[in-house]
Amino acid sequence: MACQLKTLLVLLFFLLISNLQHCVNGIPQVPCLFIFGDSLSDNGNNNNLVTRAKANYQPYGIDFPEGPTGRFTNGRNIGDIIAELLGFENYIPPFASAPEGFEILKGVNYASGSAGIRNESGQHLGNRISLDRQLQNHQYTVSHIIEMLGGNQRATMYLSKCMYSITIGSNDYLSNYFLPMFYPTSQQYTPEQYAKLLIQQLTQQVMTLYRYGARKVVLYGLGQLGSIPIVLSLCGIISSSCEDSFNKVVQLFNDRLLSLVADLNKNLWQAKFIFINTTSMDLEYTSSTFQGSMVKNASCCELLGFGQFQCSPSGYVCHNRSQYMFWDAVHPTEAAYEFYGGRAYRAQSPTDAYPFDISYLAKL
Ligand SMILES: *[C@@H]1O[C@H](CO)[C@@H](O)[C@H](O)[C@H]1NC(C)=O
Ligand SMILES: *[C@@H]1O[C@H](CO)[C@@H](O)[C@H](O)[C@H]1NC(C)=O
Ligand SMILES: *[C@@H]1O[C@H](CO)[C@@H](O)[C@H](O)[C@H]1NC(C)=O
Ligand SMILES: *[C@@H]1O[C@H](CO)[C@@H](O)[C@H](O)[C@H]1NC(C)=O
Repeated sequence: MACQLKTLLVLLFFLLISNLQHCVNGIPQVPCLFIFGDSLSDNGNNNNLVTRAKANYQPYGIDFPEGPTGRFTNGRNIGDIIAELLGFENYIPPFASAPEGFEILKGVNYASGSAGIRNESGQHLGNRISLDRQLQNHQYTVSHIIEMLGGNQRATMYLSKCMYSITIGSNDYLSNYFLPMFYPTSQQYTPEQYAKLLIQQLTQQVMTLYRYGARKVVLYGLGQLGSIPIVLSLCGIISSSCEDSFNKVVQLFNDRLLSLVADLNKNLWQAKFIFINTTSMDLEYTSSTFQGSMVKNASCCELLGFGQFQCSPSGYVCHNRSQYMFWDAVHPTEAAYEFYGGRAYRAQSPTDAYPFDISYLAKL
Protein backbone atom coordinates (compact mmCIF):
# COMPACT_ATOMS: atom_id res chain seq x y z
CA MET A 1 0.00 0.00 0.00
CA ALA A 2 2.73 2.41 1.04
CA CYS A 3 4.64 1.44 -2.01
CA GLN A 4 1.68 2.12 -4.31
CA LEU A 5 1.22 5.54 -2.71
CA LYS A 6 4.86 6.34 -3.26
CA THR A 7 4.60 5.36 -6.93
CA LEU A 8 1.54 7.50 -7.29
CA LEU A 9 3.29 10.48 -5.72
CA VAL A 10 6.31 10.03 -7.96
CA LEU A 11 4.01 9.84 -10.95
CA LEU A 12 2.21 13.02 -9.89
CA PHE A 13 5.53 14.71 -9.37
CA PHE A 14 6.65 13.89 -12.91
CA LEU A 15 3.33 14.95 -14.35
CA LEU A 16 3.68 18.28 -12.57
CA ILE A 17 7.26 18.76 -13.74
CA SER A 18 6.44 17.93 -17.34
CA ASN A 19 3.52 20.35 -17.19
CA LEU A 20 5.74 23.05 -15.79
CA GLN A 21 8.23 22.49 -18.55
CA HIS A 22 5.44 22.76 -21.02
CA CYS A 23 4.48 26.13 -19.54
CA VAL A 24 8.08 27.31 -19.54
CA ASN A 25 8.31 26.57 -23.25
CA GLY A 26 5.40 28.93 -23.83
CA ILE A 27 6.99 32.00 -22.25
CA PRO A 28 9.73 34.15 -23.78
CA GLN A 29 13.35 33.78 -22.71
CA VAL A 30 13.35 37.35 -21.41
CA PRO A 31 10.21 39.04 -20.00
CA CYS A 32 10.56 42.12 -22.21
CA LEU A 33 12.25 43.51 -25.31
CA PHE A 34 12.80 47.23 -25.93
CA ILE A 35 13.77 48.19 -29.46
CA PHE A 36 15.59 51.40 -30.48
CA GLY A 37 16.94 52.50 -33.82
CA ASP A 38 16.20 53.37 -37.43
CA SER A 39 14.24 51.89 -40.33
CA LEU A 40 15.87 48.49 -39.84
CA SER A 41 13.65 48.17 -36.76
CA ASP A 42 10.82 50.73 -37.23
CA ASN A 43 7.41 49.04 -37.22
CA GLY A 44 5.10 52.02 -37.53
CA ASN A 45 6.54 54.96 -35.59
CA ASN A 46 6.89 57.11 -38.73
CA ASN A 47 3.34 56.52 -40.00
CA ASN A 48 2.00 59.80 -38.65
CA LEU A 49 5.12 61.91 -39.11
CA VAL A 50 5.61 64.38 -41.95
CA THR A 51 8.50 62.67 -43.73
CA ARG A 52 9.40 60.93 -46.95
CA ALA A 53 10.80 58.05 -44.84
CA LYS A 54 7.54 56.12 -44.69
CA ALA A 55 6.62 52.55 -45.51
CA ASN A 56 2.91 52.26 -44.66
CA TYR A 57 1.79 51.79 -48.25
CA GLN A 58 1.89 48.99 -50.80
CA PRO A 59 4.02 47.18 -51.82
CA TYR A 60 5.70 47.40 -48.38
CA GLY A 61 4.42 44.52 -46.26
CA ILE A 62 3.44 42.44 -49.28
CA ASP A 63 4.49 39.29 -47.38
CA PHE A 64 3.34 40.48 -43.95
CA PRO A 65 0.01 39.08 -42.68
CA GLU A 66 -1.37 42.56 -41.93
CA GLY A 67 -0.02 44.12 -45.13
CA PRO A 68 1.71 47.52 -44.95
CA THR A 69 2.34 48.54 -41.31
CA GLY A 70 5.27 50.93 -41.60
CA ARG A 71 7.91 48.19 -41.69
CA PHE A 72 10.51 49.09 -44.34
CA THR A 73 10.54 45.65 -45.97
CA ASN A 74 8.32 43.04 -47.61
CA GLY A 75 7.68 41.07 -44.40
CA ARG A 76 9.14 40.97 -40.92
CA ASN A 77 12.08 43.16 -39.93
CA ILE A 78 15.02 42.46 -37.64
CA GLY A 79 13.09 43.38 -34.47
CA ASP A 80 10.30 40.95 -35.38
CA ILE A 81 12.71 38.11 -36.11
CA ILE A 82 14.54 38.56 -32.80
CA ALA A 83 11.23 38.79 -30.88
CA GLU A 84 10.17 35.49 -32.45
CA LEU A 85 13.46 33.77 -31.71
CA LEU A 86 13.23 34.92 -28.09
CA GLY A 87 9.83 33.25 -27.88
CA PHE A 88 7.48 36.27 -27.82
CA GLU A 89 4.01 35.41 -29.05
CA ASN A 90 3.37 38.90 -30.43
CA TYR A 91 5.57 41.48 -32.09
CA ILE A 92 6.67 44.38 -29.90
CA PRO A 93 4.20 47.28 -30.39
CA PRO A 94 5.40 50.65 -31.77
CA PHE A 95 5.51 53.54 -29.30
CA ALA A 96 3.37 55.57 -31.72
CA SER A 97 0.40 53.23 -31.29
CA ALA A 98 0.43 54.20 -27.58
CA PRO A 99 0.51 50.71 -26.10
CA GLU A 100 -1.19 50.68 -22.71
CA GLY A 101 -1.27 48.85 -19.43
CA PHE A 102 0.36 45.49 -19.13
CA GLU A 103 1.23 45.48 -22.82
CA ILE A 104 4.21 47.77 -22.18
CA LEU A 105 5.62 45.31 -19.67
CA LYS A 106 6.59 43.10 -22.63
CA GLY A 107 8.42 45.93 -24.34
CA VAL A 108 8.00 48.84 -26.73
CA ASN A 109 9.53 49.60 -30.13
CA TYR A 110 10.76 53.23 -30.44
CA ALA A 111 12.65 52.90 -33.73
CA SER A 112 12.11 55.54 -36.42
CA GLY A 113 13.05 55.47 -40.10
CA SER A 114 15.78 57.99 -41.07
CA ALA A 115 16.75 58.57 -37.42
CA GLY A 116 20.34 58.68 -36.27
CA ILE A 117 22.68 59.07 -33.36
CA ARG A 118 22.93 62.74 -34.33
CA ASN A 119 19.85 64.86 -34.05
CA GLU A 120 20.04 66.31 -37.56
CA SER A 121 20.61 63.02 -39.42
CA GLY A 122 17.71 62.35 -41.80
CA GLN A 123 16.25 65.86 -41.63
CA HIS A 124 16.34 66.31 -45.43
CA LEU A 125 13.63 63.63 -45.56
CA GLY A 126 11.45 65.28 -42.93
CA ASN A 127 10.57 64.60 -39.33
CA ARG A 128 11.97 61.62 -37.42
CA ILE A 129 12.51 60.45 -33.85
CA SER A 130 16.25 60.70 -33.21
CA LEU A 131 17.87 58.31 -30.74
CA ASP A 132 17.87 61.06 -28.09
CA ARG A 133 14.12 61.45 -28.45
CA GLN A 134 13.61 57.68 -28.44
CA LEU A 135 15.35 57.63 -25.07
CA GLN A 136 12.98 60.34 -23.81
CA ASN A 137 10.08 58.18 -24.93
CA HIS A 138 11.57 55.25 -23.07
CA GLN A 139 11.85 57.36 -19.92
CA TYR A 140 8.10 57.91 -20.19
CA THR A 141 7.52 54.13 -20.52
CA VAL A 142 9.79 53.46 -17.53
CA SER A 143 7.82 55.91 -15.36
CA HIS A 144 4.65 53.97 -16.20
CA ILE A 145 6.31 50.66 -15.39
CA ILE A 146 7.38 52.04 -12.01
CA GLU A 147 3.75 52.96 -11.28
CA MET A 148 2.45 49.64 -12.53
CA LEU A 149 4.86 47.51 -10.52
CA GLY A 150 4.45 49.68 -7.42
CA GLY A 151 7.86 51.20 -6.91
CA ASN A 152 11.36 51.89 -8.10
CA GLN A 153 12.95 48.78 -6.68
CA ARG A 154 10.58 46.34 -8.33
CA ALA A 155 10.82 48.19 -11.62
CA THR A 156 14.63 48.16 -11.46
CA MET A 157 14.61 44.43 -10.84
CA TYR A 158 12.16 43.86 -13.69
CA LEU A 159 13.88 46.14 -16.24
CA SER A 160 17.25 44.51 -15.57
CA LYS A 161 15.92 41.25 -17.04
CA CYS A 162 14.74 42.84 -20.29
CA MET A 163 16.64 42.79 -23.56
CA TYR A 164 17.45 46.11 -25.30
CA SER A 165 18.22 46.19 -29.02
CA ILE A 166 19.79 49.13 -30.89
CA THR A 167 20.17 49.41 -34.68
CA ILE A 168 21.51 52.92 -35.25
CA GLY A 169 24.21 54.76 -37.20
CA SER A 170 23.37 54.00 -40.85
CA ASN A 171 21.60 57.35 -41.25
CA ASP A 172 24.49 59.24 -39.70
CA TYR A 173 26.26 58.17 -42.89
CA LEU A 174 23.59 57.65 -45.57
CA SER A 175 21.44 60.60 -44.47
CA ASN A 176 24.21 62.85 -43.26
CA TYR A 177 27.96 62.34 -43.86
CA PHE A 178 27.55 60.92 -47.39
CA LEU A 179 25.26 63.78 -48.49
CA PRO A 180 27.48 66.89 -48.65
CA MET A 181 24.75 68.86 -50.49
CA PHE A 182 22.54 68.69 -47.38
CA TYR A 183 24.95 68.25 -44.45
CA PRO A 184 28.31 69.92 -43.72
CA THR A 185 29.77 67.08 -41.60
CA SER A 186 32.07 65.67 -44.31
CA GLN A 187 33.68 69.10 -44.66
CA GLN A 188 33.99 69.51 -40.89
CA TYR A 189 35.35 66.09 -39.93
CA THR A 190 37.65 63.45 -41.37
CA PRO A 191 36.14 59.93 -41.45
CA GLU A 192 38.17 59.06 -38.33
CA GLN A 193 37.00 62.16 -36.45
CA TYR A 194 33.41 61.56 -37.46
CA ALA A 195 33.41 57.91 -36.31
CA LYS A 196 34.93 59.00 -33.00
CA LEU A 197 32.31 61.72 -32.58
CA LEU A 198 29.44 59.33 -33.30
CA ILE A 199 30.76 56.76 -30.83
CA GLN A 200 31.18 59.47 -28.15
CA GLN A 201 27.57 60.50 -28.56
CA LEU A 202 26.39 56.87 -28.65
CA THR A 203 28.31 56.21 -25.42
CA GLN A 204 26.30 58.96 -23.70
CA GLN A 205 23.08 57.51 -25.11
CA VAL A 206 23.89 53.96 -23.98
CA MET A 207 24.76 55.31 -20.51
CA THR A 208 21.36 56.98 -20.40
CA LEU A 209 19.72 53.65 -21.26
CA TYR A 210 21.78 52.03 -18.51
CA ARG A 211 20.53 54.63 -16.02
CA TYR A 212 16.98 53.72 -17.04
CA GLY A 213 17.72 50.16 -15.97
CA ALA A 214 19.05 48.37 -19.08
CA ARG A 215 21.42 45.50 -18.25
CA LYS A 216 21.29 43.36 -21.43
CA VAL A 217 22.04 45.45 -24.48
CA VAL A 218 22.53 44.40 -28.12
CA LEU A 219 24.36 46.89 -30.38
CA TYR A 220 24.27 46.16 -34.10
CA GLY A 221 27.23 47.21 -36.21
CA LEU A 222 26.60 48.77 -39.62
CA GLY A 223 26.45 46.70 -42.79
CA GLN A 224 28.39 47.32 -45.99
CA LEU A 225 26.70 50.65 -46.73
CA GLY A 226 28.88 51.16 -49.81
CA SER A 227 27.32 48.07 -51.38
CA ILE A 228 23.61 48.87 -51.05
CA PRO A 229 21.72 49.54 -54.29
CA ILE A 230 21.18 53.28 -53.76
CA VAL A 231 24.89 53.88 -53.18
CA LEU A 232 25.88 51.57 -56.06
CA SER A 233 23.64 53.45 -58.47
CA LEU A 234 25.05 56.82 -57.37
CA CYS A 235 28.60 55.42 -57.33
CA GLY A 236 28.05 54.32 -60.93
CA ILE A 237 28.13 57.94 -61.99
CA ILE A 238 30.95 59.03 -59.65
CA SER A 239 33.75 56.46 -59.70
CA SER A 240 34.28 52.72 -59.53
CA SER A 241 36.27 52.85 -56.29
CA CYS A 242 33.47 54.63 -54.51
CA GLU A 243 31.88 51.41 -53.16
CA ASP A 244 35.11 50.41 -51.39
CA SER A 245 35.79 53.84 -49.99
CA PHE A 246 32.29 54.10 -48.48
CA ASN A 247 32.71 50.67 -46.91
CA LYS A 248 36.05 51.71 -45.42
CA VAL A 249 34.55 54.85 -43.88
CA VAL A 250 31.80 52.79 -42.24
CA GLN A 251 34.29 50.20 -41.00
CA LEU A 252 35.86 52.91 -38.82
CA PHE A 253 32.57 53.22 -36.96
CA ASN A 254 32.23 49.44 -36.56
CA ASP A 255 35.75 49.05 -35.18
CA ARG A 256 35.07 51.72 -32.57
CA LEU A 257 31.69 50.22 -31.71
CA LEU A 258 33.39 46.92 -30.98
CA SER A 259 35.84 48.70 -28.65
CA LEU A 260 32.96 50.52 -26.98
CA VAL A 261 31.27 47.19 -26.21
CA ALA A 262 34.51 45.86 -24.73
CA ASP A 263 34.89 48.99 -22.56
CA LEU A 264 31.29 48.95 -21.39
CA ASN A 265 31.60 45.31 -20.30
CA LYS A 266 34.75 46.16 -18.37
CA ASN A 267 33.39 49.26 -16.65
CA LEU A 268 29.74 48.41 -16.03
CA TRP A 269 30.12 44.93 -14.64
CA GLN A 270 26.45 44.58 -13.63
CA ALA A 271 25.45 44.89 -17.29
CA LYS A 272 26.27 42.94 -20.45
CA PHE A 273 26.65 44.47 -23.91
CA ILE A 274 27.10 42.60 -27.16
CA PHE A 275 28.16 43.66 -30.65
CA ILE A 276 26.63 42.08 -33.75
CA ASN A 277 28.98 42.08 -36.74
CA THR A 278 26.61 42.83 -39.59
CA THR A 279 29.52 43.22 -42.02
CA SER A 280 30.66 39.68 -41.34
CA MET A 281 27.16 38.44 -42.15
CA ASP A 282 26.93 40.65 -45.24
CA LEU A 283 30.08 39.09 -46.62
CA GLU A 284 28.95 35.55 -45.91
CA TYR A 285 25.44 36.11 -47.16
CA THR A 286 26.64 37.23 -50.54
CA SER A 287 29.48 34.72 -50.89
CA SER A 288 27.94 31.51 -49.54
CA THR A 289 27.33 29.00 -52.31
CA PHE A 290 23.66 28.39 -51.58
CA GLN A 291 23.07 32.10 -52.12
CA GLY A 292 25.03 32.02 -55.38
CA SER A 293 22.11 33.16 -57.48
CA MET A 294 21.14 35.90 -55.03
CA VAL A 295 20.56 39.35 -56.54
CA LYS A 296 22.52 41.68 -54.28
CA ASN A 297 23.01 44.84 -56.33
CA ALA A 298 19.42 45.75 -57.22
CA SER A 299 16.18 46.28 -55.36
CA CYS A 300 13.26 43.88 -55.63
CA CYS A 301 10.69 46.64 -56.05
CA GLU A 302 10.56 49.38 -58.67
CA LEU A 303 11.76 52.61 -57.11
CA LEU A 304 10.06 56.01 -56.94
CA GLY A 305 12.86 57.44 -59.02
CA PHE A 306 16.60 57.62 -59.59
CA GLY A 307 18.51 58.27 -56.38
CA GLN A 308 15.45 57.53 -54.25
CA PHE A 309 15.25 54.57 -51.91
CA GLN A 310 11.49 54.02 -51.63
CA CYS A 311 9.38 51.55 -53.59
CA SER A 312 6.93 53.13 -55.97
CA PRO A 313 3.33 52.53 -54.81
CA SER A 314 2.30 51.45 -58.30
CA GLY A 315 5.49 49.82 -59.51
CA TYR A 316 6.39 46.20 -60.15
CA VAL A 317 7.69 43.85 -57.47
CA CYS A 318 10.05 40.94 -58.06
CA HIS A 319 8.32 37.59 -58.07
CA ASN A 320 10.56 35.64 -55.70
CA ARG A 321 11.54 37.92 -52.81
CA SER A 322 13.90 35.36 -51.25
CA GLN A 323 16.19 35.60 -54.27
CA TYR A 324 16.89 39.25 -53.46
CA MET A 325 19.06 40.66 -50.73
CA PHE A 326 17.40 44.09 -50.94
CA TRP A 327 13.73 44.95 -50.93
CA ASP A 328 14.06 48.65 -51.84
CA ALA A 329 17.27 50.56 -52.59
CA VAL A 330 18.34 50.57 -48.92
CA HIS A 331 16.51 47.93 -46.88
CA PRO A 332 17.05 44.17 -46.74
CA THR A 333 14.30 41.72 -47.65
CA GLU A 334 12.65 39.59 -44.99
CA ALA A 335 14.78 36.66 -46.23
CA ALA A 336 17.95 38.65 -45.54
CA TYR A 337 16.64 39.71 -42.10
CA GLU A 338 16.02 36.03 -41.30
CA PHE A 339 19.63 35.31 -42.15
CA TYR A 340 20.99 38.22 -40.05
CA GLY A 341 18.60 37.61 -37.15
CA GLY A 342 19.30 33.89 -37.06
CA ARG A 343 23.04 34.47 -36.78
CA ALA A 344 22.73 37.33 -34.31
CA TYR A 345 20.63 35.04 -32.15
CA ARG A 346 22.87 31.99 -32.57
CA ALA A 347 26.29 32.87 -33.99
CA GLN A 348 27.61 30.59 -36.74
CA SER A 349 31.07 32.09 -36.95
CA PRO A 350 33.37 33.62 -34.29
CA THR A 351 33.07 37.04 -35.95
CA ASP A 352 29.23 37.14 -35.89
CA ALA A 353 28.81 38.32 -32.30
CA TYR A 354 31.12 39.65 -29.57
CA PRO A 355 31.64 38.57 -26.83
CA PHE A 356 28.67 36.21 -27.33
CA ASP A 357 25.35 35.98 -29.15
CA ILE A 358 21.79 36.95 -28.24
CA SER A 359 20.72 33.45 -27.13
CA TYR A 360 23.53 33.48 -24.55
CA LEU A 361 22.75 37.03 -23.44
CA ALA A 362 19.12 36.02 -22.87
CA LYS A 363 20.15 33.27 -20.44
CA LEU A 364 22.39 35.44 -18.22
C1 LIG B 1 16.94 68.41 -32.54
O1 LIG B 1 16.22 68.71 -33.72
C2 LIG B 1 14.96 69.28 -33.51
C3 LIG B 1 14.31 69.48 -34.85
O2 LIG B 1 14.21 68.27 -35.53
C4 LIG B 1 15.13 70.61 -32.76
O3 LIG B 1 13.88 71.16 -32.50
C5 LIG B 1 15.89 70.37 -31.46
O4 LIG B 1 16.16 71.57 -30.80
C6 LIG B 1 17.19 69.65 -31.71
N1 LIG B 1 17.80 69.26 -30.44
C7 LIG B 1 19.12 69.40 -30.21
C8 LIG B 1 19.59 68.92 -28.88
O5 LIG B 1 19.90 69.83 -31.02
C1 LIG C 1 33.53 41.76 -38.67
O1 LIG C 1 33.81 40.62 -39.44
C2 LIG C 1 34.66 40.89 -40.54
C3 LIG C 1 34.75 39.66 -41.44
O2 LIG C 1 34.31 38.51 -40.85
C4 LIG C 1 36.02 41.30 -40.01
O3 LIG C 1 36.89 41.56 -41.08
C5 LIG C 1 35.82 42.55 -39.17
O4 LIG C 1 37.06 42.93 -38.59
C6 LIG C 1 34.79 42.35 -38.10
N1 LIG C 1 34.51 43.67 -37.55
C7 LIG C 1 34.58 43.92 -36.29
C8 LIG C 1 34.35 45.32 -35.87
O5 LIG C 1 34.78 43.04 -35.50
C1 LIG D 1 24.25 43.32 -60.90
O1 LIG D 1 25.25 42.33 -61.04
C2 LIG D 1 25.09 41.54 -62.22
C3 LIG D 1 26.15 40.44 -62.21
O2 LIG D 1 26.64 40.15 -60.96
C4 LIG D 1 25.19 42.42 -63.44
O3 LIG D 1 25.00 41.64 -64.59
C5 LIG D 1 24.15 43.52 -63.36
O4 LIG D 1 24.32 44.43 -64.44
C6 LIG D 1 24.24 44.28 -62.07
N1 LIG D 1 23.10 45.19 -61.96
C7 LIG D 1 23.20 46.44 -61.58
C8 LIG D 1 21.94 47.23 -61.48
O5 LIG D 1 24.27 46.94 -61.27
C1 LIG E 1 12.61 31.36 -54.57
O1 LIG E 1 14.01 31.42 -54.44
C2 LIG E 1 14.55 30.56 -53.48
C3 LIG E 1 16.03 30.86 -53.32
O2 LIG E 1 16.68 30.88 -54.54
C4 LIG E 1 14.26 29.11 -53.86
O3 LIG E 1 14.76 28.25 -52.89
C5 LIG E 1 12.75 28.93 -54.01
O4 LIG E 1 12.47 27.65 -54.50
C6 LIG E 1 12.16 29.98 -54.97
N1 LIG E 1 10.71 29.90 -54.91
C7 LIG E 1 9.95 29.94 -56.00
C8 LIG E 1 8.47 29.86 -55.78
O5 LIG E 1 10.41 30.04 -57.13
